[in-house]
Amino acid sequence: MLNVASLPGDGIGPEVCDAAVRVLDALPIDVVVAEHPFGGRAIHEHGDPLPAETLAACRAADAVLLGAAGLPEFDGAPVRPEQGLIRLRGELDVYANLRPARGDGIDLLIVRELVGGLYFGASGRRADGSAFDTCEYTPAQIERIARRGFELARTRRSFVTSVDKANVLETSRLWREIVSGLAGDYPDVRLEHMLVDNAGMQLVVDPAQFDVILTENTFGDILSDVAAGSCGGLGVAASASLGERAPGIFEPVHGSAPDIAGQGIANPTGALRSVALLLRHAAAENDLADQLERAVDTALGTAPTRDVGGTATTVEFTDAVLSVGFR
Ligand code: NAD
Ligand code: IPM
Ligand code: MN
Repeated sequence: MLNVASLPGDGIGPEVCDAAVRVLDALPIDVVVAEHPFGGRAIHEHGDPLPAETLAACRAADAVLLGAAGLPEFDGAPVRPEQGLIRLRGELDVYANLRPARGDGIDLLIVRELVGGLYFGASGRRADGSAFDTCEYTPAQIERIARRGFELARTRRSFVTSVDKANVLETSRLWREIVSGLAGDYPDVRLEHMLVDNAGMQLVVDPAQFDVILTENTFGDILSDVAAGSCGGLGVAASASLGERAPGIFEPVHGSAPDIAGQGIANPTGALRSVALLLRHAAAENDLADQLERAVDTALGTAPTRDVGGTATTVEFTDAVLSVGFR
């Protein structure tokens, strides 16, 4: 029995989560999905984007399925939906954020450090009106994500591009030192270093050169949207956030998309590919994950949504995925 905590959240989050739950329910395995308040909706109902009950349910689950957090009405507010997402990642210590991007000759995997750096450092405002965010990494934080990157590369084409800003940032120089120091433990994996500004450009002009991109939190956030842009857009990009033990968090790379929310036209591909990652990493159901990924690829051809050049609604796309049947 697979226990999934579903956190639909805001905007198109509930629309793509509905699609994901329909697919989970159609699989020939025992899955129980329980929904919990999260994000802006949870601020309205509970004053907290990650209520204690929701966090406890996530801890008790085998996997967390997440839609999106963020509503324009909370921009600049003291309590914001996105804080719930960052806190959940920290509480579950899901330090390894896997963001695959596949497309025309492109098959890359961004391995983004998820619980350190600027997102978790000291930040605030000073009396003089200035503001600050602090980027810090410990050697242990860098080592565990780097080992994940090398190990994942071994399951692919054994090539790691470690991305940093070592020409400017001290955290990046430590990053490069630690990653280089570990390379001896993975002699079968080719390692190169690349500065982040160039990496952004290379992802646009020649994304096929990459296998595994290993990088810190903020760089990984930005580069994963760039990689998505080279592979069909944000609607199709999936992610898995993994720690040393379950539960992991499985969520599309995109946000709440307020510009299209409520219209029933969101592309559920990112969410459905995240379900495939859930099947792989939380349920060891690789065969079902393969079937689902193939069904989604087919639906992208037969029933594309508006963002990828078609006219299908979220429900019609999901119907197309379900029409293949899972065994
Ligand atoms: P976004 O990803 O929500 O949207 C960017 C653009 O991509 C929009 O034009 C949107 O319509 C389009 N898009 C995104 N997903 C799509 C889909 N599934 N189908 C079709 N089109 C899609 O990014 P944004 O506009 O910068 O941010 C909006 C809000 O979402 C903000 O509050 C932000 O903080 C939040 N956000 C949350 C997450 C998350 O929960 N993981 C991720 C990113 C942004
Ligand atoms: C993502 C999002 C989040 C991030 C925000 C909403 C906190 O952009 O998952 O990519 O920056 O990690
Ligand atoms: Mn992002």
